[in-house]
Amino acid sequence: ASAFSGALFAAGAHAGEMTIGFSQIGSESGWRAAETTVSKAEAKKRDITFKIADAQQKQENQIKAIRSFIAQGVDAIFLAPVVSTGWDSVLKEAKEANIPVVLLDRDIDPSGKDLYLTAVTSDSVHEGKVAGEWLVKTVGTKPCNVVELQGTVGASVATNRKKGFEDGIAGHSNVKIVRSQTGEFTRAKGKEVMESFIKAEGGKNICAVYAHNDDMMVGAIQAMKEAGLKPGSEILTVSIDAVPDIFKAMAAGEANATVELTPNMAGPAFDAVVAFKEKGTVPPKWIQTESRLFTQADKPMAVYESKKDLGY
Ligand code: AHR
Repeated sequence: ASAFSGALFAAGAHAGEMTIGFSQIGSESGWRAAETTVSKAEAKKRDITFKIADAQQKQENQIKAIRSFIAQGVDAIFLAPVVSTGWDSVLKEAKEANIPVVLLDRDIDPSGKDLYLTAVTSDSVHEGKVAGEWLVKTVGTKPCNVVELQGTVGASVATNRKKGFEDGIAGHSNVKIVRSQTGEFTRAKGKEVMESFIKAEGGKNICAVYAHNDDMMVGAIQAMKEAGLKPGSEILTVSIDAVPDIFKAMAAGEANATVELTPNMAGPAFDAVVAFKEKGTVPPKWIQTESRLFTQADKPMAVYESKKDLGY
């Protein structure tokens, strides 16, 4: 039986009477900014009072925000966990206060599984795998040295996207990760780390860049161009998120592929909480969002136009 039951939490509340707190990570990437904008819009659609606390990348700020939401007696808490460990105590406090928690876009360690109602995330191992398989297919039998820009250290998506990519290139000994370092999911750090990769490897020795998000790739593209290299042709790129700027780079021939992550994690999360509160419907433990690969063949400028005003 689920650790959550309608009898425990359902209050017969209606969406219009609900207050939900969201402990958001920060604003490290274009994707994150879009998630915040879309979440607010989804709350407004349902007439839900929505309180967002920006943790500025710090878990301690997220823990404080959750405690403050508990003290305020909110109806539910959304949490985008910056890292995957260290949540058990505070989530136990939420559970003891009968406040359901929904994870958005990142996971926590399995020890916390009974402490949240549901998680709305993509399959981030699959995202990395799709990226790796695209690269393997694109290079064929040619030797290919890959440099990898990892996301935030300790974040589930960074661990999983690394693992998935390694799975995707497994068995293809011509494709090798020669350097891998965190670029913290930001453009500035992505550029800085790419500059150091180019210095260490010599640009011509790098066949492809894999970045755990598009923002780091946009920074890396800048670094490659400043070093006189040609990203998108001399050096292949594959990253994750599908933010508008990567489509602009694809249209200019400076990027090759991205795996889409929807910024609308809050919509399904609100629906799950409302159904739970109104009818006692217990959602599945994982509400999986889709992942789709885009390449230069997918009319990147049209995709850019369709996404550019969506809060990125
Ligand atoms: O957790 C989702 C990731 O966080 C996005 O892919 C990245 O851009 C963001 O910072």
